[in-house]
Amino acid sequence: MATSPQQTLACRITIAIDGPAASGKSTVGGIVADRLGYLYFDTGVMYRAVTWAALERGIPIEDEAAVTRLAETLLIQVEPPTIDDGRQYTVLADGVDVTWKIREPEVNHYVSPVSAYRGVRRALTEQQRRIGAPGGVVMVGRDIGTVVLPQAEVKIYLDASVEERARRRYIEMIQRGQTADMAAVLADLRRRDQIDSSRDAAPLCAAEDAVIIDSTDLSIEQVVERVLALAARALRRCCESSP
Ligand code: DC
Repeated sequence: MATSPQQTLACRITIAIDGPAASGKSTVGGIVADRLGYLYFDTGVMYRAVTWAALERGIPIEDEAAVTRLAETLLIQVEPPTIDDGRQYTVLADGVDVTWKIREPEVNHYVSPVSAYRGVRRALTEQQRRIGAPGGVVMVGRDIGTVVLPQAEVKIYLDASVEERARRRYIEMIQRGQTADMAAVLADLRRRDQIDSSRDAAPLCAAEDAVIIDSTDLSIEQVVERVLALAARALRRCCESSP
């Protein structure tokens, strides 16, 4: 049955993209959202903003209760880019622009332990669900398809070998003008993979109904095409079932 333009507009699905650090989630998610005219939301920035604020305020990272309180009270806003400096969005933490600060090595180092705290996850998951609820969103993270939006119409688990991910992260850092050491980047990714996938609360893993895409030997455009094809199928199903 053919679908009318009104039906297509009425069907705004949710796309969940999970995967390990530097697997290409943000790049792919951003492009897919753009092409569909959807909101792009990178949940990693919320864990990063809490980590940055804890470090900035001298809250010991090992103090779970204090870091959890911070996650419950910190106002995190993700807005369209306010400065033309290569950013995908602007991130504000209690009104402070932390878009680049949350990408610094110290935050990279502490963000995995912070995101392993149950209370931190509870606070941020609640906000993420509110953002995803209306549909028309591409949300990326570690637990979107499994915990945050288990009802998402499209679930992708984007993977790549750790060596390829390290290569991509290294290039990204150099392009940003940061200093980077390939061996250190690789070691840091291995450490974060280990913490992210072995934690008790919402560990990194593919949802049972996720489509797994290994991007090691794929270009960004090839991954985008696969995700868009899955989205088109889900949109057709959604339109056919709506009145
Ligand atoms: O995607 P990223 O590297 O910006 O994520 C930063 C950290 O946040 C990562 O170590 C795991 C954590 N994270 C998470 O636990 N759950 C999410 N939905 C998103 C990120």
